Amino acid sequence: MKLLVTGGAGFIGGVTTRQLLKNGFDVVVFDNLSCGHKEIVPNSTKLIVGDLRKKEDIFKVFEEERFDAVLHFAAYTIVPESMSNPSKYFENNVIATMNLLDAMIKANVNNFIFSSSAAVYGNPKTIPVTEDAPTLPLNAYGQTKLTVEEYLKWYEHAYGLNYVSLRYFNAAGADLENDIGEDRSVETHLIPLVLFAALGKNKSISVFGTDYPTRDGTCIRDYIHVVDLASAHVLALKKLLNSDPKSSIYNLGSQNGFTVREVISAAEKIVGRKINVVDSPRREGDPPALIASSKKIKDELGWVAQNSEIEKIIKDTWQWMQNHPKGYRK
Ligand code: UFG
Repeated sequence: MKLLVTGGAGFIGGVTTRQLLKNGFDVVVFDNLSCGHKEIVPNSTKLIVGDLRKKEDIFKVFEEERFDAVLHFAAYTIVPESMSNPSKYFENNVIATMNLLDAMIKANVNNFIFSSSAAVYGNPKTIPVTEDAPTLPLNAYGQTKLTVEEYLKWYEHAYGLNYVSLRYFNAAGADLENDIGEDRSVETHLIPLVLFAALGKNKSISVFGTDYPTRDGTCIRDYIHVVDLASAHVLALKKLLNSDPKSSIYNLGSQNGFTVREVISAAEKIVGRKINVVDSPRREGDPPALIASSKKIKDELGWVAQNSEIEKIIKDTWQWMQNHPKGYRK
C-alpha cells in the first residue's frame, strides 16, 4: 500500500512516517521544508520538495504516482502567530489543503487522514472534552482546522472521500528510537522553552497569564507524546483501508491536564536545577484549560497513550536536546 505523507519532514509527520514504514507501508513524503528538516526523512524514502499552495506542484504528484491514502500533516501550527497573521494561516492551512484534496479527488484517491487540533474547541464548557463538544475556536489557527473539517464533510458527501480527522491536544516529547525531536527556527511551545531556560539558552521562561480560573492561575494543557500520536495515525489508517471506511473524528490526548507551573516544576525535577520564571501577561487566543477525553478512539480503535506521562515527555525532550544541542544544524 502506497501512502503520500505531506509534512513528513516535520516533527509529527516524521515520527509517523517511521511507524508507517515499520508497519509495511510504502511512503512518499511531500514537504516544502519551510518547517521540516530533510534529515528527518529516511534515506530510503522518496522526498518530493513542493508546496501545496501551488496547485501544479501537488497535481503533478498524483499524475505521476498512484496512492492508496494520504496523511496530511503539512500546516502552520503556532497559535500566537495565527492571531497576528491569519492570512498566512488561511492560505497555508486551508487553501493548500483544498488543493491537496482536489488533486486526490481528480486521481480517485479517497482515503485521507487529517491533522486537526484541540484548538477547534476554543474554550470548552465541559472538561474532559469529547468530540461532540461545540466547536468555537478562539484563535485563527483553530479556525483553519475547523474550516477544513467542515469542507471534509462535503467532500465525503459529493466525492465519496473517507477521512479520519485527529484532533491533537498538545503534541510534545521526542522519538528517541528514531532520533526525531522538535527543532523550529522560532520556538514558541512551552516544554522546549522551559528546557531552553534550563539549558541557559534563554534566561528564563515567561508564564503567560497567572489569573486564569485554574488551580494555580496558569493555563492547563493535555500533553501527548509524539510517539503516541503517531501510533494513532497507523490505527486510523488501518481502519480506513481495511475494516471500516466510515469517516470519523477522534481526540488524541492523554486525558491528564497540567498547568504551566506544574510543567515547569516537573522539568526542574528532571533537569535537577531551578528554572528562572517570569510571570507575564496573558497571550492572545489561549483558552484556560484543554483536556481530552480520548475514550472514543480507545473504544473504537483500541488506542491507548503509552508514553504520555508528563515526566516521560519532558525527559525524552531533554534527552533529545542533549543529543542535539544545535538541533538539526550540524
Ligand atoms: N506558555 C507559556 N510560556 C511560553 C509558552 C507557552 O506560559 O513561553 C503557555 C501558553 O500560554 C499555553 C501553554 O503554555 O497556556 C501551552 O502553550 P504552547 O504554545 O506550548 O501550546 P498551545 O496550547 O498554544 O498550542 C498547542 C499547539 C497547537 C494546538 C494546541 C492544542 O501548538 O497547534 O496545542 O491544544 F492547537
